[in-house]
Parts: sequence; C-alpha cells; structure tokens
Amino acid sequence: MTLTPKSRLIIALDVTDRTEALSIAEKLGGAVDAIKVNYPLVLVCGLGIIKDIKKYANVIADFKVADIPNTNSLICRETFEAGADAIICQGFVGKDSVKACVDVANKYGREVYVVTEMSHPGALDFLQPHAFELVDLAFRAGASGIIAPATRPERLVDIRCRAGDMKILSPGVGAQGGDARKAIDAGADFVIVGRSIYNAEDPYAAAVNFIEQLRR
Ligand code: XMP
Repeated sequence: MTLTPKSRLIIALDVTDRTEALSIAEKLGGAVDAIKVNYPLVLVCGLGIIKDIKKYANVIADFKVADIPNTNSLICRETFEAGADAIICQGFVGKDSVKACVDVANKYGREVYVVTEMSHPGALDFLQPHAFELVDLAFRAGASGIIAPATRPERLVDIRCRAGDMKILSPGVGAQGGDARKAIDAGADFVIVGRSIYNAEDPYAAAVNFIEQLRR
C-alpha cells in the first residue's frame, strides 16, 4: 500500500495489552489512515500482532531501524513478511543503511519513512543541527517520506520546503504539546497521535475530535 491522506490521522498504538490493542484497532481502524505499532506492543505480543491489526487498518512499524545495511535488510524483510505496510528507520546511520531498507521495501511494494528531527526536547542535542541533511539523505535514498516534529511547527515549515514531494508524518501532537491543526498547516501530511487517543476515556471520540480539527 501507499499511505494516502484521508483523515490525516495515524494512531500510535503503544498500549501493552493485546486485547486492548485489538479493541482500539477494531473501533478506530476505519477512521484513521494507519495504525502505527512500536516496540511496546510488539515486544509484548510478538510480530504476529501486525497481521491481526491489518484486518482493520494499514500498519506502520515504528522500529526506528538503525543498523548496518545487512541487518537493516533482514529487519525490514521480517517486518514486511509480517504484513507491515511501512517501516520507520533512522537516517543518522547513513545513506547505505537507509537505502538497504528502501531496497527491501521496493521488493515488497511497501514504504520507508526516515526519522529527521525528533519531537522530544533531546532532539535538540544531536538531531536538530542535522535535520536538513537527514531530509536530503531520505530523498536521495528513495524513501517515501520523513518523520518531523509537530512540537516545532516552525521547523516543520522549513523541513516541508526541503522535503519536496516526500510525505511528512508528524508525531508529538497532544501529550507532547503539539497541535494537530498547526502541524498540518505547517506542512505535515499526517499527524501521529498516541496517548491523547488511547488513554482517553473514549478513544473513538478522541480520534473523531482530532479528525474534525484536521478537516477544518
Ligand atoms: P504520543 O503518545 O506522544 O506518541 O502521542 C507518539 C508516538 O510516536 C513516536 N514518536 C516518534 N517517532 N520520531 C519518530 O519516529 C519522532 O520524533 C517521534 N516522536 C514520537 C513515539 O514513539 C510514539 O509511538
């Protein structure tokens, strides 16, 4: 699949209980553009959880793959065999490592998204000064898109200018302080929201609320 903006909302399903994860996926799958899984859920449930979630939505594996090219290829192969539609990798390991992910993704008809500047304060230590280079690297390696911070919309504007046609997925909305609408207005194609949805009393209502904000 190719991630296409409809609701523009991606839920980060970082719960660590299989039943809860599948219940949220079933309720929200039809409303969101994708469900992002990360280590907290996969370490508890195993990689097989990807196939279970795929019944309800596209799945992005946020494994922040960051190894030598051969190991990256093996990780991507297993992740795509498990059914993931896209994988997130780190760019700071270099173009050959990112290219290794893209080559495997192309074989499976799937997508790779590259982390640039992260959404948390620690991203200022090392990543921010190199964010534009990471955007360029993602483009040169043939990635489908990048990850950039909703917590810094002013940075999103600059990163958007640099990213050309690449898609931008933007985490940091809600619990980390970012605003969904501002992130889209600054140039993101999708926002990624975790705690503000899955910790809400009514996750479906919380997701619908975000979708309304994104529609305006
Ligand atoms: P919350 O609960 O903060 O969850 O809405 C955010 C989700 O996104 C992940 N995350 C990131 N992933 N680059 C990434 O590739 C980032 O800058 C970034 N910031 C947050 C986080 O692990 C969680 O799954």
